[in-house]
Amino acid sequence: MLGSVFYILNIIFFIGLVILIFSPIFLGVPFMPTHKKQAIRMIELAQIKSGMKVVDLGSGAGRLLFLAAKSGAQTLGYELNPFLVLWTKLVILVTGKQDKIKVFYKSIYDANIKDMDVILMFLYPPHMKKMVKKLQEAKPGTIILSYAFALPEWQLIKKEQGIYVYRR
Ligand SMILES: C[S@@+](CC[C@H](N)C(=O)[O-])C[C@H]1O[C@@H](n2cnc3c(N)ncnc32)[C@H](O)[C@@H]1O
Repeated sequence: MLGSVFYILNIIFFIGLVILIFSPIFLGVPFMPTHKKQAIRMIELAQIKSGMKVVDLGSGAGRLLFLAAKSGAQTLGYELNPFLVLWTKLVILVTGKQDKIKVFYKSIYDANIKDMDVILMFLYPPHMKKMVKKLQEAKPGTIILSYAFALPEWQLIKKEQGIYVYRR
């Protein structure tokens, strides 16, 4: 019995690993978490406070989600790598953050960003170009932070430690 559970867990782990390795081919963005120091700085720069609504577009393993939730925000993540979605859901469950963090297996282009106070992202240039149009759905005043890559055509408010800050 224990042997077959172990066998199934091994298969799940192997499938997850394959998805993780090959997802860049399908998604155009490999999974790479925002560096811890910069992730913390993103939350500070966004001035995230209790009750704010925050979304991470391409939430990966959830680093930004958990940091934003720690500051009291209601956080949403959108992610297309099923392994990372499952992992994030598991950590949410284990840490008891179900009331603060939700993660969806859904494309960032289908994300509901209309009510968000803060939008976080760490995506690569081809996505940044497409984001220019998508971000028109955000309400005026929304703070947008992008790690590593700039949003073409958007007026930059601030750049620090590779973090680009914008306001819709
Ligand atoms: C560079 S990682 C950043 C992860 C996380 N935001 C962080 O800062 O730690 C980008 C993530 O975007 C995800 N991604 C790429 N294209 C996507 C899409 N169309 N919809 C949802 N997620 C996507 C990738 O699977 C990857 O996990």
